[in-house]
Amino acid sequence: MHPTSLGPGSGQTLTASDFGTDFIWGTATAAYQIEGAVDQGGRGPCIWDEFAEKKGRIKNNDKAGVACDFYSRFETDLEIAAKLGFKNFRFSVSWSRILPEGVGEINRTGIDFYNRLIDKCLALDLVPWLTLYHWDLPLSLEKRGGWKNREVVGWFAAYTSICAGAFGDRVNNWIVMNEPMATAGLGYTTGLHAPGKKGLWNFLPVVHHLALSQAEAGRVIRSQFPEAYIGTALSCSYVEPATERVKDIRAARRADALMNRLFIEPALGMGYPSDAFPYLAKIRKYMRSGDDEKLKFDFDFIGLQNYFNVVVRHSYRVPVLWLKEEPAVKRNKPVTAMGWEIAPEGMYRILDQFSQYTGIRDIIVTENGAAFQDVVEQGEVRDTARLNFFREYLAQVLKAKQEGASVKGYFAWTFLDNFEWAEGYSARFGLVYVDFETQERIVKDSGKWFSDFLQKSDYFL
Ligand code: NOJ
Repeated sequence: MHPTSLGPGSGQTLTASDFGTDFIWGTATAAYQIEGAVDQGGRGPCIWDEFAEKKGRIKNNDKAGVACDFYSRFETDLEIAAKLGFKNFRFSVSWSRILPEGVGEINRTGIDFYNRLIDKCLALDLVPWLTLYHWDLPLSLEKRGGWKNREVVGWFAAYTSICAGAFGDRVNNWIVMNEPMATAGLGYTTGLHAPGKKGLWNFLPVVHHLALSQAEAGRVIRSQFPEAYIGTALSCSYVEPATERVKDIRAARRADALMNRLFIEPALGMGYPSDAFPYLAKIRKYMRSGDDEKLKFDFDFIGLQNYFNVVVRHSYRVPVLWLKEEPAVKRNKPVTAMGWEIAPEGMYRILDQFSQYTGIRDIIVTENGAAFQDVVEQGEVRDTARLNFFREYLAQVLKAKQEGASVKGYFAWTFLDNFEWAEGYSARFGLVYVDFETQERIVKDSGKWFSDFLQKSDYFL
């Protein structure tokens, strides 16, 4: 019997081998968060470059011009990832490095950069996992309406086709999109992320164009590489009502529709989840005949990205949603530096929830991790809290797998401390510490733990 609820000091073992020999282990990154070199190699500007220029949008007014300087340091960085024992490396392609204007002329220097990155991965026995869109829309496309403009579906398909043509001979694993809900919700509704657009009226068209693009990109890759392993990465959080009151239960169903069902169900041919959230039926206004079919794509895997649980209650104060979240601290729950609840069993529950969809083939946890305040002491980062976070969440992934969830892999978020979007450099999620002044890298205790977990068969908790 394998242990299912491992806690620190529980005296039970948990190693990568418990997950089976074919389980996929990797670490994940995203172009804008690590590359830097935003105006090098012929790259065009993206929406985050412009957003970061506006005062007050990003904590400490941080900018990603240098970030982890991965653009220049990728070779030595990939060597660190391989040395830690990872066999898979997730990165994203910056659309405006490939197409500085978003469409039209291809920037060969951009293609060369990703070719070198992919070749280095392969030389190190790191299987590349390529994300096509991790939030960095070319600025010139935003000027034409960005994700609000239905033409984006064609723009994204053309970019996808270029990437498939350039990299598909060596890249088999594709993640077409990363957390489209963040783009729709934070980018175009609350304005907390680039492009900083505010207004509920943006939400539905943006959702629809993202969902169409997600499926269309899948079809493009499939037509060029029928054997490719194609997925999309969705943010998911197990949602609970604050009380058993009917109003709170309904509020939880609405939140669940938005947070967990909105992008998977149309892809599976189930349509948008307006049963739980009737407002979503208004999306029909942006749909054309044939769109129900176009929203469908038979993904080989769904990338599930989980960080926290959500507890909601009904509220008359928030129009349309009619709900508010109960902050974890108010519920006396332990939190990370982001204020997110540490809830390992939420990982188990959401894996279980996604396993109920008969249309999902494989699930891969394409992101999971935590930010904590790290301190460097005598050249070491003793991040026990992060180490415990990984250990506890992984135990829940194993539990779900043992109970039949079709979870096939896990990617730790993230490899290097990096530019955490609106939080700038203040939130560190890395297994490897980055000194942003000197670009020095220090493998944190959590990185060393992960390395032992991956490479030692008798690792003792
Ligand atoms: C999800 C996003 O994909 C990633 O870019 C971000 O850094 C992590 N969550 C942590 O917030």
